[in-house]
Formats: sequence, structure tokens, C-alpha cells
Amino acid sequence: MTDLDTRRKIDALLQTFYQQARTDELLGPVFLGALGHGDWSGHLGTVTDFWCTVLLGESSYPGGFMWKHMRLPIAAAHVDRWTEMFSSLIRETHMGPVTEEALRRVEIMGEVLRAKIKPRGERGPIIQ
Ligand code: HEM
Repeated sequence: MTDLDTRRKIDALLQTFYQQARTDELLGPVFLGALGHGDWSGHLGTVTDFWCTVLLGESSYPGGFMWKHMRLPIAAAHVDRWTEMFSSLIRETHMGPVTEEALRRVEIMGEVLRAKIKPRGERGPIIQ
């Protein structure tokens, strides 16, 4: 196993993750609702830019990560599933310092996302 330290490896990891997320019974409907059944390459490009900015010091991602999720019909259970699936995949396929940083970032972003969606919890998720 090698470290998660190039754009090519991050891109390949995300391709695999999205194949899993697309067919997941909890996450799949949210992704399909937001992105449709067609080509997700534009979205994958954005998410690759995001992780390359976080992990490799690029400035390819323009920002707006939290705002995008505030508009989605997601609850804490979605965040739990997302972070579990993504962390497991990272651990099964990579190792090294950048991999450790990726796992740490997933945890932090999961915490922030859970805290942001909590206030609307009692009313259920916002559906546009
Ligand atoms: C720590 C957890 C998460 C991370 C790091 C993450 C990362 C990202 C990033 C970087 C984007 C692109 C935002 C942009 O276009 O600027 C995105 C969009 C998206 N995420 Fe997440 N995500 C997380 C959790 C979730 C969860 C729990 C779901 C639920 C299924 C989800 C579903 C989506 C969808 C559907 C979009 C596309 C939104 C749109 O373009 O309208 N994400 N995510």
C-alpha cells in the first residue's frame, strides 16, 4: 500500500467511493436526487479539487463545501454512514502520513457537518 499523495490516487479513490455511495441504500437516493442518473464527472472533478486542496496544498477548490450540504436532505445518520464508508475505504487502500491526515480531516469535517445540521434535527431534514 502507498500513501494518498497524488491527484491520480485521490481521483481513483473517489471514483471507487462514488460507485459505493451511488448504490448505498441510505446515501444513494441523496446523491441521485442532487446529481441525477447521468454523468457525475463534473461533480467528481470538484470533489477531487477539494481533497487536493486539503491534502496536497493545491488551491484548485474555490470553497463553499458546507453551504452545499446545508441545502441537502441529510441527517446525522447520513454523515455517520458517509464518514464510515469513506474512512474504511481509505484505510483498506492506502497508508502513510497523508493518509492519516485524510482520516483526521474526514473526522473533523464529519463533526462540523453534524453540528451544522443538528439545529434542524427536530423538524427533520430540509428537502428542497
Ligand atoms: C465529512 C463528510 C463530507 C465531505 C468531506 C463531503 C465532500 C463534498 C464536497 C467537497 C462536495 C462538493 C461541493 C461543491 O460542489 O463545492 C460535496 C458535494 C455533495 N455531497 Fe458531500 N461530503 C460529505 C458528506 C456528505 C453526505 C453525508 C452526503 C449525503 C449523501 C453528501 C452528499 C453530497 C452531494 C449530493 C453533493 C452534491 C451537491 C450539489 O452539487 O448540489 N455529502 N461533498
